[in-house]
Amino acid sequence: MNVLVIGGAGYIGSHCVRQLIEAGHNPVVLDNLVYGHKGALLPSVKFYCGNLDDPVLVGKILDDEKIDLVMHFAAYINVGESVRDPIKYYRNNVCGVVSLVETMLNHGVKKFVFSSTCATFGIPAKLPLVEDMPQHPINPYGQTKLDVENFLKNCARAYGLNSVAFRYFNASGAAEDGSIGEDHKPETHLIPLAIFAAMGKGPSLKIFGEDYKTPDGTCLRDYVHVDDLSRAHIAAFDKLNGDGMFLHYNLGTGTPNSVLEIIKGVEDVSGLKVPYEIAPRRPGDPDALFADSTKAKTELAWKIKYTNVRDIIATAWKWHKNNPEGFKD
Ligand code: UFG
Repeated sequence: MNVLVIGGAGYIGSHCVRQLIEAGHNPVVLDNLVYGHKGALLPSVKFYCGNLDDPVLVGKILDDEKIDLVMHFAAYINVGESVRDPIKYYRNNVCGVVSLVETMLNHGVKKFVFSSTCATFGIPAKLPLVEDMPQHPINPYGQTKLDVENFLKNCARAYGLNSVAFRYFNASGAAEDGSIGEDHKPETHLIPLAIFAAMGKGPSLKIFGEDYKTPDGTCLRDYVHVDDLSRAHIAAFDKLNGDGMFLHYNLGTGTPNSVLEIIKGVEDVSGLKVPYEIAPRRPGDPDALFADSTKAKTELAWKIKYTNVRDIIATAWKWHKNNPEGFKD
């Protein structure tokens, strides 16, 4: 299939592009390079620089490249920033998708893969999280993702759009060969920050709270390898053949790990100490979040390769050790 990957130069998008090529598809990337990195793409990948809400550019790509399906990874993802600047988040994460889907429909493209998040659930009433549990996001970031899920449902009924939303848990790790990996600026995620602290590259790691209702007092999260996430996306392509549908899947390993367990994992994998200090809780962090991904496993035959968080950390370590400054662009 000819696949337009929007945000394909970003963290999850660039891993998905590699998986698409391996699976025999033809990815074309659109990225504005505000957060993405040209260096995350193989030189052979066709690249367009621009915004998802540019109907002229997107329309031209859809026509010229004979696109069958669009994948969208170009959302803003920083929860704290979304609280400080919701307009930025609604404009890109919601208005951007409305514009994109309108352009797709105007050009006869009706297959759409959307990156959603476990943040749409807010504080879970029960764990593990199953797809149809109530969604009550507690920050603008999660709300924008839920708004798009609902928008896609309406577009299925109104225009026959076939879409799938994947609710990621904690995307982590890097390509097994160490050639691409996570490079957010600024970095806010636990595994890279713990690795930077071990390498002496950053300050000591701040553990945001040690008084959560968890066995060791630090938050529990479900860390899932970025290549496993990518494989689920591709497995869903065959499902998007109806006359208007909205599918949704939780993607996590189902195994929670605490912040302290991640630190121990980084220490074991790297052979270095992670200097850390206890800091106040970060607003909006639930005690625990982990997925029940039975639906993806059953309906998409999704197989998780990285079931052990140490193996995920090992791929991240390889990438950061070889690329301490991230991508060179
Ligand atoms: N943490 C620390 N110190 C840090 C960074 C993180 O203690 O310096 C803790 C957090 O409090 C949390 C855990 O490590 O308990 C994981 O934090 P991340 O920031 O790595 O990931 P989140 O769980 O906050 O965020 C992820 C995605 C978001 C998404 C969110 C949904 O990155 O995009 O899951 O809960 F919104």
